[in-house]
Amino acid sequence: MTDAEKALLDGSGGVARARAMELLVDYGRILGADRLVETTNVAGVPGQATPFLRAFFEPEGGQAAIFSRFDLDCDVVFDVPLAGVRTACLQSGVDPLGWQELGKPEAAFIASRDAEAYAGSLGVEMLRTCTPYLAGNVPVFGEHCAWMESSAVIYANSVLGARTNTEGRHSTSAAMLVGRIPYWGLHRPENRKAQDHVHVKVPVESVFEWGMLGYFVGEVAGEAIPVLDGALSQPDVVRLKHFGAAAASSGGVELYHLVGITPEAPTLTAALGDSRPDTIVYDETARRRVWESLNANGTDEAVDFVMLGCPHAAIEQMREVAGLLDGKQVTSRLWIFTSRAVRDQAAAEGLLRVITAAGGHVLTDTCSAIGNAVPPGTRVVALDSAKQAHYLPAMMGIEAWFGTTAECIDAAITGRWRGVAP
Ligand code: F3S
Repeated sequence: MTDAEKALLDGSGGVARARAMELLVDYGRILGADRLVETTNVAGVPGQATPFLRAFFEPEGGQAAIFSRFDLDCDVVFDVPLAGVRTACLQSGVDPLGWQELGKPEAAFIASRDAEAYAGSLGVEMLRTCTPYLAGNVPVFGEHCAWMESSAVIYANSVLGARTNTEGRHSTSAAMLVGRIPYWGLHRPENRKAQDHVHVKVPVESVFEWGMLGYFVGEVAGEAIPVLDGALSQPDVVRLKHFGAAAASSGGVELYHLVGITPEAPTLTAALGDSRPDTIVYDETARRRVWESLNANGTDEAVDFVMLGCPHAAIEQMREVAGLLDGKQVTSRLWIFTSRAVRDQAAAEGLLRVITAAGGHVLTDTCSAIGNAVPPGTRVVALDSAKQAHYLPAMMGIEAWFGTTAECIDAAITGRWRGVAP
Protein backbone atom coordinates (compact mmCIF):
# COMPACT_ATOMS: atom_id res chain seq x y z
CA MET A 1 0.00 0.00 0.00
CA THR A 2 1.08 3.58 -0.54
CA ASP A 3 1.60 5.89 2.41
CA ALA A 4 -1.67 7.65 1.59
CA GLU A 5 -3.53 4.34 1.59
CA LYS A 6 -1.94 3.30 4.88
CA ALA A 7 -2.97 6.61 6.41
CA LEU A 8 -6.55 6.13 5.24
CA LEU A 9 -6.56 2.64 6.72
CA ASP A 10 -5.28 4.09 9.99
CA GLY A 11 -8.15 6.56 10.16
CA SER A 12 -6.66 9.79 8.80
CA GLY A 13 -9.76 10.24 6.62
CA GLY A 14 -12.28 9.29 9.29
CA VAL A 15 -14.01 6.10 10.34
CA ALA A 16 -15.98 5.49 7.15
CA ARG A 17 -12.94 5.72 4.87
CA ALA A 18 -10.91 3.54 7.24
CA ARG A 19 -13.63 0.88 7.10
CA ALA A 20 -13.81 1.16 3.33
CA MET A 21 -10.04 0.65 3.07
CA GLU A 22 -10.22 -2.31 5.42
CA LEU A 23 -12.90 -3.93 3.28
CA LEU A 24 -10.92 -3.37 0.07
CA VAL A 25 -7.65 -4.63 1.58
CA ASP A 26 -9.36 -7.83 2.78
CA TYR A 27 -11.08 -8.25 -0.57
CA GLY A 28 -7.81 -7.76 -2.43
CA ARG A 29 -5.97 -10.20 -0.19
CA ILE A 30 -8.58 -12.92 -0.85
CA LEU A 31 -8.31 -12.28 -4.59
CA GLY A 32 -4.54 -12.45 -4.49
CA ALA A 33 -4.08 -8.83 -5.56
CA ASP A 34 -0.69 -7.42 -4.59
CA ARG A 35 -1.87 -3.82 -4.47
CA LEU A 36 -4.77 -1.43 -4.93
CA VAL A 37 -5.24 0.84 -7.93
CA GLU A 38 -6.74 4.30 -8.02
CA THR A 39 -10.16 4.44 -9.62
CA THR A 40 -11.86 7.58 -10.83
CA ASN A 41 -15.15 6.04 -11.86
CA VAL A 42 -17.47 3.94 -9.70
CA ALA A 43 -20.89 2.56 -10.65
CA GLY A 44 -22.82 0.73 -7.97
CA VAL A 45 -25.89 1.00 -5.79
CA PRO A 46 -24.72 2.84 -2.65
CA GLY A 47 -27.32 2.89 0.07
CA GLN A 48 -30.01 1.35 -2.10
CA ALA A 49 -32.93 0.23 0.04
CA THR A 50 -35.87 -2.13 -0.02
CA PRO A 51 -38.72 -2.15 2.51
CA PHE A 52 -36.97 -5.09 4.22
CA LEU A 53 -33.59 -3.32 4.52
CA ARG A 54 -35.30 -0.16 5.67
CA ALA A 55 -37.26 -1.93 8.41
CA PHE A 56 -34.28 -4.02 9.48
CA PHE A 57 -31.90 -1.08 9.87
CA GLU A 58 -34.40 1.55 11.04
CA PRO A 59 -33.62 1.04 14.75
CA GLU A 60 -29.91 1.60 14.07
CA GLY A 61 -30.28 4.86 12.18
CA GLY A 62 -31.86 4.25 8.79
CA GLN A 63 -29.85 5.07 5.69
CA ALA A 64 -26.51 5.59 7.43
CA ALA A 65 -26.98 2.17 9.02
CA ILE A 66 -27.77 0.58 5.65
CA PHE A 67 -24.54 2.03 4.23
CA SER A 68 -22.35 1.25 7.28
CA ARG A 69 -23.70 -2.13 8.26
CA PHE A 70 -24.88 -3.55 4.93
CA ASP A 71 -22.79 -1.85 2.21
CA LEU A 72 -19.54 -1.77 4.20
CA ASP A 73 -20.26 -4.79 6.39
CA CYS A 74 -19.31 -2.97 9.62
CA ASP A 75 -20.35 -3.54 13.19
CA VAL A 76 -20.82 0.13 13.89
CA VAL A 77 -22.87 2.87 12.29
CA PHE A 78 -21.00 6.00 11.23
CA ASP A 79 -21.63 9.20 9.34
CA VAL A 80 -20.91 8.60 5.68
CA PRO A 81 -18.84 11.30 3.97
CA LEU A 82 -19.26 12.56 0.41
CA ALA A 83 -18.19 10.30 -2.42
CA GLY A 84 -14.48 10.69 -3.00
CA VAL A 85 -14.66 9.98 -6.71
CA ARG A 86 -17.25 10.12 -9.47
CA THR A 87 -19.91 7.57 -8.55
CA ALA A 88 -23.01 6.62 -10.50
CA CYS A 89 -26.05 4.82 -9.13
CA LEU A 90 -27.16 1.97 -11.37
CA GLN A 91 -30.63 0.45 -11.78
CA SER A 92 -33.00 -0.30 -8.94
CA GLY A 93 -36.16 -2.39 -8.60
CA VAL A 94 -38.64 0.47 -8.78
CA ASP A 95 -39.62 3.15 -11.27
CA PRO A 96 -40.43 6.30 -9.25
CA LEU A 97 -43.11 7.32 -11.75
CA GLY A 98 -44.31 3.89 -12.88
CA TRP A 99 -44.20 1.82 -9.68
CA GLN A 100 -47.96 1.30 -9.76
CA GLU A 101 -47.85 0.04 -13.35
CA LEU A 102 -45.12 -2.35 -12.21
CA GLY A 103 -47.36 -3.58 -9.40
CA LYS A 104 -44.95 -2.45 -6.68
CA PRO A 105 -46.19 -1.57 -3.18
CA GLU A 106 -45.93 2.03 -2.08
CA ALA A 107 -43.42 0.96 0.58
CA ALA A 108 -40.99 -0.09 -2.16
CA PHE A 109 -41.33 3.28 -3.86
CA ILE A 110 -40.79 5.15 -0.58
CA ALA A 111 -37.73 3.06 0.34
CA SER A 112 -36.23 3.65 -3.09
CA ARG A 113 -37.06 7.37 -3.07
CA ASP A 114 -35.50 7.93 0.35
CA ALA A 115 -32.41 5.89 -0.52
CA GLU A 116 -32.02 7.97 -3.65
CA ALA A 117 -32.24 11.23 -1.68
CA TYR A 118 -29.60 9.89 0.70
CA ALA A 119 -27.21 8.79 -2.05
CA GLY A 120 -27.78 12.07 -3.86
CA SER A 121 -26.79 13.95 -0.71
CA LEU A 122 -23.47 12.07 -0.80
CA GLY A 123 -22.79 13.32 -4.32
CA VAL A 124 -23.82 10.17 -6.17
CA GLU A 125 -25.05 10.66 -9.75
CA MET A 126 -28.54 9.20 -9.92
CA LEU A 127 -28.33 7.69 -13.40
CA ARG A 128 -30.50 4.73 -12.35
CA THR A 129 -29.71 2.64 -15.38
CA CYS A 130 -27.80 -0.43 -16.48
CA THR A 131 -26.50 1.67 -19.39
CA PRO A 132 -24.53 4.45 -17.67
CA TYR A 133 -22.53 4.82 -20.90
CA LEU A 134 -25.75 6.05 -22.58
CA ALA A 135 -26.51 8.46 -19.76
CA GLY A 136 -23.33 10.48 -19.57
CA ASN A 137 -20.82 8.19 -17.85
CA VAL A 138 -18.40 7.13 -20.58
CA PRO A 139 -15.02 6.06 -19.20
CA VAL A 140 -12.03 6.48 -21.45
CA PHE A 141 -9.51 3.95 -22.71
CA GLY A 142 -7.35 2.58 -19.90
CA GLU A 143 -9.40 4.20 -17.12
CA HIS A 144 -9.61 2.02 -14.01
CA CYS A 145 -13.24 1.71 -12.98
CA ALA A 146 -15.18 -0.12 -10.30
CA TRP A 147 -18.47 -1.05 -11.95
CA MET A 148 -21.28 -3.41 -11.13
CA GLU A 149 -23.77 -4.75 -13.72
CA SER A 150 -22.45 -7.35 -16.13
CA SER A 151 -23.80 -5.74 -19.32
CA ALA A 152 -22.19 -2.41 -18.42
CA VAL A 153 -18.90 -4.02 -17.38
CA ILE A 154 -18.51 -5.89 -20.67
CA TYR A 155 -19.30 -2.71 -22.62
CA ALA A 156 -16.82 -0.62 -20.65
CA ASN A 157 -14.04 -3.18 -21.02
CA SER A 158 -14.57 -4.24 -24.60
CA VAL A 159 -15.94 -1.24 -26.47
CA LEU A 160 -14.36 1.59 -24.50
CA GLY A 161 -11.18 -0.17 -23.40
CA ALA A 162 -11.73 0.89 -19.78
CA ARG A 163 -10.65 -1.58 -17.08
CA THR A 164 -13.03 -3.08 -14.58
CA ASN A 165 -13.94 -6.39 -13.07
CA THR A 166 -17.56 -7.10 -12.23
CA GLU A 167 -17.72 -5.59 -8.79
CA GLY A 168 -20.40 -5.92 -6.15
CA ARG A 169 -22.31 -3.63 -3.84
CA HIS A 170 -19.73 -3.80 -1.04
CA SER A 171 -16.65 -3.13 -3.15
CA THR A 172 -18.27 -0.30 -5.12
CA SER A 173 -19.56 1.40 -1.99
CA ALA A 174 -16.07 1.17 -0.48
CA ALA A 175 -14.42 2.37 -3.71
CA MET A 176 -16.77 5.33 -3.78
CA LEU A 177 -15.30 6.60 -0.51
CA VAL A 178 -11.59 6.02 -1.09
CA GLY A 179 -11.16 5.82 -4.88
CA ARG A 180 -9.34 2.48 -4.78
CA ILE A 181 -10.08 -1.06 -5.97
CA PRO A 182 -7.90 -4.21 -5.89
CA TYR A 183 -5.51 -4.39 -8.83
CA TRP A 184 -6.30 -7.81 -10.24
CA GLY A 185 -8.16 -9.47 -13.10
CA LEU A 186 -9.00 -7.12 -15.95
CA HIS A 187 -7.16 -4.16 -14.41
CA ARG A 188 -3.92 -5.88 -15.40
CA PRO A 189 -3.04 -5.60 -19.10
CA GLU A 190 -1.57 -9.11 -19.20
CA ASN A 191 -5.00 -10.51 -18.26
CA ARG A 192 -6.79 -8.84 -21.13
CA LYS A 193 -5.57 -11.05 -23.98
CA ALA A 194 -8.06 -13.32 -25.78
CA GLN A 195 -8.21 -16.97 -24.83
CA ASP A 196 -10.84 -18.22 -27.32
CA HIS A 197 -11.16 -17.56 -31.05
CA VAL A 198 -14.61 -17.44 -32.67
CA HIS A 199 -14.77 -17.23 -36.45
CA VAL A 200 -18.10 -15.89 -37.72
CA LYS A 201 -19.25 -17.40 -41.01
CA VAL A 202 -22.79 -16.02 -41.28
CA PRO A 203 -23.44 -12.31 -41.83
CA VAL A 204 -24.13 -10.57 -38.53
CA GLU A 205 -25.76 -7.21 -39.11
CA SER A 206 -28.96 -6.49 -37.17
CA VAL A 207 -29.37 -5.99 -33.41
CA PHE A 208 -31.21 -9.33 -33.39
CA GLU A 209 -28.26 -11.09 -35.07
CA TRP A 210 -25.71 -9.47 -32.74
CA GLY A 211 -27.76 -10.59 -29.74
CA MET A 212 -27.79 -14.19 -30.96
CA LEU A 213 -24.07 -14.11 -31.68
CA GLY A 214 -23.45 -12.79 -28.16
CA TYR A 215 -25.50 -15.60 -26.71
CA PHE A 216 -23.45 -18.13 -28.67
CA VAL A 217 -20.18 -16.54 -27.57
CA GLY A 218 -21.18 -16.65 -23.92
CA GLU A 219 -22.05 -20.33 -24.21
CA VAL A 220 -18.75 -21.31 -25.81
CA ALA A 221 -16.43 -18.94 -23.94
CA GLY A 222 -17.89 -19.25 -20.45
CA GLU A 223 -15.69 -16.93 -18.40
CA ALA A 224 -12.88 -16.75 -20.93
CA ILE A 225 -12.05 -13.76 -23.14
CA PRO A 226 -13.07 -14.39 -26.75
CA VAL A 227 -11.85 -12.71 -29.91
CA LEU A 228 -14.12 -12.70 -32.95
CA ASP A 229 -13.42 -12.22 -36.62
CA GLY A 230 -15.12 -13.07 -39.91
CA ALA A 231 -18.46 -11.89 -41.28
CA LEU A 232 -19.04 -9.05 -38.83
CA SER A 233 -20.51 -5.85 -40.20
CA GLN A 234 -19.56 -2.56 -38.55
CA PRO A 235 -21.59 -2.55 -35.30
CA ASP A 236 -22.97 0.44 -33.43
CA VAL A 237 -23.64 1.15 -29.77
CA VAL A 238 -26.99 -0.65 -29.76
CA ARG A 239 -25.64 -3.78 -31.46
CA LEU A 240 -22.72 -4.01 -29.04
CA LYS A 241 -25.04 -3.33 -26.10
CA HIS A 242 -27.10 -6.40 -27.04
CA PHE A 243 -24.10 -8.51 -28.01
CA GLY A 244 -22.29 -7.92 -24.72
CA ALA A 245 -25.36 -8.32 -22.53
CA ALA A 246 -26.08 -11.69 -24.16
CA ALA A 247 -22.48 -12.91 -23.81
CA ALA A 248 -22.51 -11.93 -20.14
CA SER A 249 -25.76 -13.88 -19.60
CA SER A 250 -25.26 -17.24 -21.29
CA GLY A 251 -21.67 -17.09 -20.02
CA GLY A 252 -19.63 -14.92 -17.72
CA VAL A 253 -17.81 -12.91 -20.37
CA GLU A 254 -16.49 -9.58 -19.05
CA LEU A 255 -14.28 -8.66 -22.01
CA TYR A 256 -14.29 -9.56 -25.70
CA HIS A 257 -12.38 -8.39 -28.72
CA LEU A 258 -13.64 -7.83 -32.28
CA VAL A 259 -10.81 -7.78 -34.77
CA GLY A 260 -10.50 -4.42 -36.46
CA ILE A 261 -13.33 -2.97 -34.37
CA THR A 262 -12.64 -2.89 -30.62
CA PRO A 263 -9.64 -0.95 -29.33
CA GLU A 264 -7.47 -3.81 -28.09
CA ALA A 265 -7.84 -5.92 -31.23
CA PRO A 266 -6.26 -4.16 -34.23
CA THR A 267 -5.36 -7.66 -35.46
CA LEU A 268 -6.15 -11.22 -34.43
CA THR A 269 -2.56 -11.69 -33.31
CA ALA A 270 -2.61 -8.55 -31.20
CA ALA A 271 -5.77 -9.71 -29.44
CA LEU A 272 -4.46 -13.21 -28.80
CA GLY A 273 -0.93 -12.37 -27.71
CA ASP A 274 0.96 -15.62 -27.32
CA SER A 275 -2.01 -17.97 -27.18
CA ARG A 276 -3.18 -19.95 -30.22
CA PRO A 277 -6.55 -21.51 -29.31
CA ASP A 278 -8.59 -23.77 -31.58
CA THR A 279 -11.07 -21.90 -33.74
CA ILE A 280 -14.76 -22.16 -32.88
CA VAL A 281 -17.08 -21.54 -35.82
CA TYR A 282 -20.35 -19.63 -35.75
CA ASP A 283 -22.28 -20.77 -38.83
CA GLU A 284 -25.87 -21.29 -39.98
CA THR A 285 -26.23 -24.37 -37.79
CA ALA A 286 -24.93 -22.60 -34.69
CA ARG A 287 -27.13 -19.59 -35.31
CA ARG A 288 -30.22 -21.79 -35.75
CA ARG A 289 -29.40 -23.64 -32.54
CA VAL A 290 -29.14 -20.35 -30.60
CA TRP A 291 -32.49 -19.15 -31.93
CA GLU A 292 -34.10 -22.47 -31.01
CA SER A 293 -32.67 -22.42 -27.52
CA LEU A 294 -33.86 -18.83 -26.94
CA ASN A 295 -37.33 -19.88 -28.11
CA ALA A 296 -37.25 -23.26 -26.37
CA ASN A 297 -40.14 -22.62 -24.03
CA GLY A 298 -42.37 -20.66 -26.40
CA THR A 299 -45.38 -22.81 -27.36
CA ASP A 300 -48.45 -20.61 -27.05
CA GLU A 301 -48.67 -18.00 -29.80
CA ALA A 302 -51.10 -15.85 -27.79
CA VAL A 303 -48.81 -13.15 -26.39
CA ASP A 304 -50.10 -11.13 -23.46
CA PHE A 305 -46.96 -9.13 -22.62
CA VAL A 306 -44.14 -7.54 -24.64
CA MET A 307 -41.04 -6.26 -22.87
CA LEU A 308 -38.37 -4.22 -24.63
CA GLY A 309 -35.34 -2.33 -23.36
CA CYS A 310 -32.82 -4.84 -22.03
CA PRO A 311 -30.26 -3.38 -21.62
CA HIS A 312 -32.12 -0.11 -21.23
CA ALA A 313 -33.23 1.22 -24.61
CA ALA A 314 -31.07 3.75 -26.45
CA ILE A 315 -32.74 6.73 -28.10
CA GLU A 316 -32.36 5.02 -31.49
CA GLN A 317 -34.44 2.13 -30.17
CA MET A 318 -37.08 4.50 -28.80
CA ARG A 319 -37.30 6.06 -32.27
CA GLU A 320 -37.66 2.63 -33.87
CA VAL A 321 -40.43 1.60 -31.45
CA ALA A 322 -42.29 4.89 -31.91
CA GLY A 323 -42.05 4.48 -35.68
CA LEU A 324 -43.47 0.95 -35.52
CA LEU A 325 -46.30 2.03 -33.20
CA ASP A 326 -47.26 5.30 -34.88
CA GLY A 327 -51.03 5.33 -35.45
CA LYS A 328 -51.46 1.78 -34.10
CA GLN A 329 -52.88 0.38 -30.88
CA VAL A 330 -51.45 -2.43 -28.79
CA THR A 331 -53.63 -5.28 -27.55
CA SER A 332 -50.95 -6.86 -25.31
CA ARG A 333 -49.29 -5.03 -22.44
CA LEU A 334 -46.17 -3.28 -23.74
CA TRP A 335 -43.40 -2.11 -21.41
CA ILE A 336 -40.26 -0.41 -22.72
CA PHE A 337 -37.51 0.11 -20.17
CA THR A 338 -34.94 2.85 -20.50
CA SER A 339 -32.89 5.33 -18.51
CA ARG A 340 -34.27 8.60 -17.21
CA ALA A 341 -31.92 10.43 -19.57
CA VAL A 342 -33.21 8.62 -22.66
CA ARG A 343 -36.82 8.91 -21.53
CA ASP A 344 -36.41 12.67 -21.24
CA GLN A 345 -34.91 12.80 -24.71
CA ALA A 346 -37.73 10.63 -26.04
CA ALA A 347 -40.23 13.02 -24.49
CA ALA A 348 -38.52 16.00 -26.07
CA GLU A 349 -38.62 14.31 -29.48
CA GLY A 350 -42.34 13.50 -29.16
CA LEU A 351 -41.66 9.75 -29.07
CA LEU A 352 -43.18 9.26 -25.63
CA ARG A 353 -46.46 10.72 -26.84
CA VAL A 354 -46.57 8.33 -29.81
CA ILE A 355 -45.77 5.29 -27.67
CA THR A 356 -48.27 6.11 -24.93
CA ALA A 357 -50.96 7.00 -27.47
CA ALA A 358 -50.54 3.47 -28.84
CA GLY A 359 -51.02 2.06 -25.33
CA GLY A 360 -47.35 1.37 -24.52
CA HIS A 361 -45.65 2.24 -21.23
CA VAL A 362 -42.15 3.71 -21.03
CA LEU A 363 -40.60 2.83 -17.67
CA THR A 364 -37.26 3.69 -16.13
CA ASP A 365 -34.80 2.64 -13.46
CA THR A 366 -35.54 -1.08 -13.56
CA CYS A 367 -36.78 -3.92 -15.80
CA SER A 368 -38.91 -7.03 -15.51
CA ALA A 369 -36.02 -9.27 -14.42
CA ILE A 370 -34.45 -6.87 -11.91
CA GLY A 371 -37.80 -5.62 -10.64
CA ASN A 372 -39.39 -9.09 -10.64
CA ALA A 373 -42.32 -7.50 -12.38
CA VAL A 374 -44.63 -8.60 -15.17
CA PRO A 375 -48.25 -7.54 -15.66
CA PRO A 376 -50.76 -9.58 -13.62
CA GLY A 377 -51.83 -12.77 -15.35
CA THR A 378 -48.91 -12.84 -17.80
CA ARG A 379 -48.46 -16.25 -19.36
CA VAL A 380 -46.53 -15.50 -22.54
CA VAL A 381 -43.99 -12.72 -23.14
CA ALA A 382 -42.27 -11.55 -26.33
CA LEU A 383 -38.72 -10.21 -26.00
CA ASP A 384 -36.08 -8.75 -28.30
CA SER A 385 -33.26 -9.25 -25.81
CA ALA A 386 -31.33 -12.51 -25.52
CA LYS A 387 -30.37 -11.52 -21.98
CA GLN A 388 -33.95 -11.04 -20.87
CA ALA A 389 -34.98 -14.23 -22.71
CA HIS A 390 -32.28 -16.05 -20.74
CA TYR A 391 -33.55 -14.90 -17.33
CA LEU A 392 -37.21 -13.89 -17.38
CA PRO A 393 -39.05 -17.15 -18.24
CA ALA A 394 -37.34 -19.10 -15.46
CA MET A 395 -37.67 -16.26 -12.95
CA MET A 396 -41.35 -15.63 -13.54
CA GLY A 397 -42.51 -19.08 -14.68
CA ILE A 398 -43.79 -17.81 -18.03
CA GLU A 399 -43.31 -18.73 -21.68
CA ALA A 400 -41.14 -16.48 -23.83
CA TRP A 401 -40.60 -15.77 -27.51
CA PHE A 402 -37.41 -14.13 -28.71
CA GLY A 403 -37.28 -12.18 -31.96
CA THR A 404 -36.66 -8.84 -33.58
CA THR A 405 -38.01 -5.57 -32.21
CA ALA A 406 -40.40 -5.43 -35.17
CA GLU A 407 -41.67 -8.94 -34.41
CA CYS A 408 -42.21 -7.96 -30.78
CA ILE A 409 -44.14 -4.82 -31.70
CA ASP A 410 -46.20 -6.88 -34.14
CA ALA A 411 -47.01 -9.23 -31.24
CA ALA A 412 -47.96 -6.26 -29.05
CA ILE A 413 -50.36 -5.01 -31.72
CA THR A 414 -51.87 -8.33 -32.85
CA GLY A 415 -51.55 -10.30 -29.63
CA ARG A 416 -49.98 -13.14 -31.66
CA TRP A 417 -46.40 -14.31 -32.03
CA ARG A 418 -45.52 -14.43 -35.73
CA GLY A 419 -41.74 -14.39 -35.45
CA VAL A 420 -39.79 -16.58 -37.83
CA ALA A 421 -36.50 -18.42 -37.49
CA PRO A 422 -33.58 -16.72 -39.25
FE1 F3S B 1 -30.71 -3.82 -17.64
FE2 F3S B 1 -32.57 -5.32 -16.62
FE3 F3S B 1 -31.39 -6.06 -18.77
S1 F3S B 1 -31.22 -4.02 -15.50
S2 F3S B 1 -29.33 -5.29 -18.65
S3 F3S B 1 -32.67 -4.23 -18.52
S4 F3S B 1 -31.80 -7.39 -17.04
